[in-house]
Amino acid sequence: DWTMGDYAKTTVAELKEKIGHGRVLLALSGGVDSAVAAALLSRAVGRQLTCIFVDHGLMRKNEGDEVDQAFQGRDIQFVRVDAAERFLEKLQGVSDPERKRKIIGEEFIRVFEDEANKIGAVDFLAQGTIYPDVIESGLGDAATIKSHHNVGGLPEHVRFKEIVEPLRLLFKDEVRALGLELGLPDYMVWRQPFPGPGLAIRIIGEIKKEKLDVLRDADAVFRDEIAHAGLMRDINQYFAVLTDMRSVGVMGDGRTYDYTLALRGVTTSDFMTADWARIPYEVLDTISNRIINEVKGINRVVYDITSKPPATIEWE
Ligand code: XMP
Repeated sequence: DWTMGDYAKTTVAELKEKIGHGRVLLALSGGVDSAVAAALLSRAVGRQLTCIFVDHGLMRKNEGDEVDQAFQGRDIQFVRVDAAERFLEKLQGVSDPERKRKIIGEEFIRVFEDEANKIGAVDFLAQGTIYPDVIESGLGDAATIKSHHNVGGLPEHVRFKEIVEPLRLLFKDEVRALGLELGLPDYMVWRQPFPGPGLAIRIIGEIKKEKLDVLRDADAVFRDEIAHAGLMRDINQYFAVLTDMRSVGVMGDGRTYDYTLALRGVTTSDFMTADWARIPYEVLDTISNRIINEVKGINRVVYDITSKPPATIEWE
């Protein structure tokens, strides 16, 4: 009888054999795939593995610290780079979605390379590529509407001999099962997909530190209430979007002129097409009330009832 435990054992043995005494470098993104790849490699080669976690400051609330917590205690070399300022500076004045993606992708590689070069030459560059990524990249760029990549390609200025992709044959559900087998925390393994450019493409228009903070707080309320309602596994992706539209409201006995926040939730099996999630009205009501009361700068909350196509899941 085949189990994930057996799979982990076999793969760890194969990785040991392949890597030998070599040094391995991996970019941790905060997502499930790179986290599971790291856990697998750490079991195989321990401190021969260095994980570089580039914190671009565009993650959701507490997410950077969660990655830290999941990896600090492990038998690996873990480097967290706080690059928030660097990214914000590069993004200043930029409002075009594809330009944001390009800037973030390039800056990510640059920060990664800077850190990698402090370590010196490595033998292997590890990646959390999973089976659907392998298929998708075979389709070529003709099929892409948005430039979907977690990072802007391979680092050019890091010296390594070979790429290792220990998850190449696995589907997402298998990757999650493997992650649990390797002792990764639930919150890491069950993380919903999160775009590489992060909250940068969930703030319409120019990105400002204050806007990031507002969005992070509102998004945290949304996620909290979805969890509270027990809907986490029923909605495949859900998040808040900070629009660049302001409108008039009334709070206490004063007039407000604040931003509109949009909530997005979809059900989908492949993220190529998606239906908007039928979140119960009472849940939406609680979310809206909490956001208006708890998050300063927002005076209106709307729910996106568009499917994909014609809309995309993200707003940018
Ligand atoms: P769309 O918005 O194209 O999103 O319907 C489909 C899925 O892809 C994710 N997404 C991205 N992921 N970099 C990524 O790594 C990106 O630039 C990007 N844009 C969208 C999105 O979150 C959804 O899961």
